[in-house]
Amino acid sequence: MTTDTAQTTARTATLRLPDAPEYTLPVVVGSEGERAVEIAKLRDATGYITLDSGYASTGSCASDITFIDGDHGVLRYRGYPIEQLAARSSFVEVAWLLIFGELPTAEQMASFSRLLTDNELLHESLRHHFEGFPPSAHPMAMLSAMINASSCYHPDLLVEDGEEHFITSTAKLISKVRTIAAFSYKKSIGQPLIYPHPERSYCRNFLHMMFSIPYAEYHCRPAVLEAFVKFLILHADHEQNCSTSTVRMVASSGANLFASIAAGVCALWGPLHGGANQAAIEMLLQIRDSGARVKDVVEAVKAKQFRLMGFGHRVYKSYDPRAGILKDALRAMMKVSEASDNLMEIAMELEEAALTDDYFISRNLYPNVDFYSGLILRQIGIPIPMFTVMFAIGRVPGWIAHWYEQRRHGGRIFRPRQIYTGHTQRDYVSLRERGCAVDQDCSHSF
Ligand code: ACO
Repeated sequence: MTTDTAQTTARTATLRLPDAPEYTLPVVVGSEGERAVEIAKLRDATGYITLDSGYASTGSCASDITFIDGDHGVLRYRGYPIEQLAARSSFVEVAWLLIFGELPTAEQMASFSRLLTDNELLHESLRHHFEGFPPSAHPMAMLSAMINASSCYHPDLLVEDGEEHFITSTAKLISKVRTIAAFSYKKSIGQPLIYPHPERSYCRNFLHMMFSIPYAEYHCRPAVLEAFVKFLILHADHEQNCSTSTVRMVASSGANLFASIAAGVCALWGPLHGGANQAAIEMLLQIRDSGARVKDVVEAVKAKQFRLMGFGHRVYKSYDPRAGILKDALRAMMKVSEASDNLMEIAMELEEAALTDDYFISRNLYPNVDFYSGLILRQIGIPIPMFTVMFAIGRVPGWIAHWYEQRRHGGRIFRPRQIYTGHTQRDYVSLRERGCAVDQDCSHSF
């Protein structure tokens, strides 16, 4: 089989396949010049599908939201460079930008912030759901379960009813996710739940719910708040990653916003995705506690005994820009608070060793967002099991933006094909014929 994509014009590709007529495919070009061969009608026309395990060369949609140039370490939300947003914007403003496409006016910003405040509480009956979880429950499990459960208390949000209604749904979800996350933490450590404070901003309020205790108010240092805001902005979107593709996949079936976002939380949990921030810090702790030398760790990674968590990326083949910003933010926060962290020293030593080693150089393995994010969260005082939840809070606006885009422009349900590799047809053989004795209990299995 040949897959000749030689173009006769700038806008078509020709595919020659065995036992099928030559087929001309349209070439699609994005606003930043990325090119794709459009294959939606390929199977109908030729009987062939494409096979791309892990989707390394598959675009699942066209999207206006986020642009990544992985070769040059570029990340932009709606055209704005991540460096500018991290330095000058707020999380709520970035959330609006991602979901609605433009930076908000002062009026939009004020009314959206008001909506976030108005919706920060959980229904009291929903709050009682936390009592059903065992103390050992992972907060990611609680988060996804509670997002789904909250839809039961807001059935109005399950219908789609125009832009104003969607703005309200968005504010409810972004606001309640923060409250659910903080309540999950309080539940896991057996402390009383701290209610949100209506006069606090989104990020400050979250830290208040996490760290205040009755009669002892948490005082948030500016350097901590600044680092936390940066953390959330940097995690707010990253185009068609595993969890976002999950959200779009679920949305394509017509599922509501809450169900789709809950599915995204589950996908994020995995250690190859958002769970890597927890895995990375656990790896650093293990290195520290075992007294292993960084040199030996690198050798073990090269021998494929384990992966360097927080390293490597499907899209970035250069330094992940988010990792660089987080590393600087971490240094700034530690300088202001005169803090030290021996895990930071190990991380930097590991980075240096990896970036000068041929194994990592030849595979384009650089630190990704998760390499330094855990160290920032540690400095803020966030416990390790909550790390991936922090990522989820940051990612909710991106998921909502993709859900909305999928609903408005997505079209058909996502339904990939497969190449079947199992048995060809064979005939059923009963238990008895397969040698099960009559007096054995195997006939009661139904
Ligand atoms: N440590 C050591 N080797 C690695 C690493 C790593 N972190 N990542 C990739 N490699 C190696 C692989 O072993 C493979 O080597 P080989 O060619 O000798 O077989 C090669 O690099 C390519 O690896 P793939 O698994 O094919 O790369 P892929 O693009 O599928 O995976 C991923 C990307 C999952 C991020 C991978 O780099 C990884 O597992 N990293 C560690 C987990 C992590 O940090 N995940 C967070 C990603 S960012 C995010 O989701 C928010």
